[in-house]
Amino acid sequence: MAEAKSNELMERIVSLCKRRGFVFQSSEIYGGINGFWDYGPLGAELKRNVKDQWWRYMTQRREDVAGLDATIIMHPTIWKASGHVDTFSDPMVDCKKCKSRFRADQLDSTPCPMKPSKMVCECDGEKTEARAFNLMFKTYVGPVESEDNVAYLRPETAQAIFVQFKNVLDVSRQKVPFGICQIGKAFRNEINPRNFTFRSREFEQMEVEFFIRPDEVAEKLGGKVAPFVEGMDLSTPQNDWGWEVWHRHWVAERVKWYESIGLSRNTLDFHWQKKEELAHYAKACVDILYQFPFGTQELEGIAARGDFDLSQHQKFSGKSMEYFDEEAKAKYVPHVIEPSAGVDRLVLALICSAYTEDQVPDDKGKMETRIVMRFHPRVAPIKVGVFPLLKNRPELVQKAKEVRDLLRPHMSVFYDESGAIGRRYRRQDEAGTPFGVTIDFDTLGEKPEAKDTVTLRDRDTCQQTRVHISELLPLLLEKVR
Ligand code: GAP
Repeated sequence: MAEAKSNELMERIVSLCKRRGFVFQSSEIYGGINGFWDYGPLGAELKRNVKDQWWRYMTQRREDVAGLDATIIMHPTIWKASGHVDTFSDPMVDCKKCKSRFRADQLDSTPCPMKPSKMVCECDGEKTEARAFNLMFKTYVGPVESEDNVAYLRPETAQAIFVQFKNVLDVSRQKVPFGICQIGKAFRNEINPRNFTFRSREFEQMEVEFFIRPDEVAEKLGGKVAPFVEGMDLSTPQNDWGWEVWHRHWVAERVKWYESIGLSRNTLDFHWQKKEELAHYAKACVDILYQFPFGTQELEGIAARGDFDLSQHQKFSGKSMEYFDEEAKAKYVPHVIEPSAGVDRLVLALICSAYTEDQVPDDKGKMETRIVMRFHPRVAPIKVGVFPLLKNRPELVQKAKEVRDLLRPHMSVFYDESGAIGRRYRRQDEAGTPFGVTIDFDTLGEKPEAKDTVTLRDRDTCQQTRVHISELLPLLLEKVR
């Protein structure tokens, strides 16, 4: 029953995404291509806002993180060094009867409604033995399709950061502890892409590699390695922080950021990986999860990766990745904490979290159901709708266009003069536009005391207040930034 309800909700969300232009199937007119999605006009704005917010949070609001924008195809030895060529695979099985292909660890031989995230084989035919399937997309660089020219589409953005560690260090005047961040496309040939955009074959990541001192160096500098204590101040870095406290710092920072863009703490969950779940090089990893309608699933992983990656690239490239720490008078390969988030998963979480149906009165006061996307103003695709009360009154239209032009250089504005004002509000509610500005006869001075004021409508409460045009821009800017 619960599963049917969440499936129905997901269907309504997917349908709204198509109808309003958040997400389209890639190559739709050719029947689509499994695991690939396009963002329509509203989705493209939403995604851009998410990335801008993340980038600003990392590079402008912190002093200790520098940005990078690296290529998707890199030297193939990078993926040897990182372990992806040998181990980045999922166990795959085929059904001998219907020929469908499954990820063995996601195939459920005893389907149960309490496990909605598992796959089932409809025909329940005999399966082959599981075999490893490497998830990297292969291609060739140059005109000759030989083994020597094989290259890979990056399966994560992280490795470019490790291989550019020294260059960034040299030019950015950063000192360990510091981070390098990157946003960009990643590609994985997933065996079973599913749950709308959640598991795609082409997606974007937002990753930070935050380089820290090894614990013994922190101990030398700070006299001890600070233990993690519940309630401790995690916002002000200290010299005695070892990897454990730095890891906690990043978990706290990331949760703060999710809250700042409208994902409330009570929709998130955490999975602290057990020792046996950890990658061989990881000391700890926590997954930040979101309660999607199809189950509570990972948005971001925050891993303490030790010095594995830099040491591997040092070994495979023959170039030193050592850092001389002047303050500690020590030379070492830095360790790393890696907060790694998926843009598409986060956009999907924001869409699911924003989707609401409620009852509001229509133009005649009769209650009707409306769909409203309650996006936080910081990520909302359109920040404000501007409406002349009537389309056939040139003085209203002219004033409304003046207000539109006043706001336009500062935020995304949607000007709409067609249809009843109530219908125009509903259209913007569905797009998730947090504010609506209406220019009416009072704006023109019908009531002299209200001249040059407009009504400002709040999407969530439908409440309207009168605001002087001169106060509009600062008031909106404060809310959307
Ligand atoms: N550098 C570490 C790394 O890539 P990951 O847990 O494999 O770690 C990080 O990926 C994040 O990338 C995930 O938490 C998820 O948000 C996103 N992600 C991974 N695979 C994805 C896929 N197939 N589709 C969409 N997002 C994906």
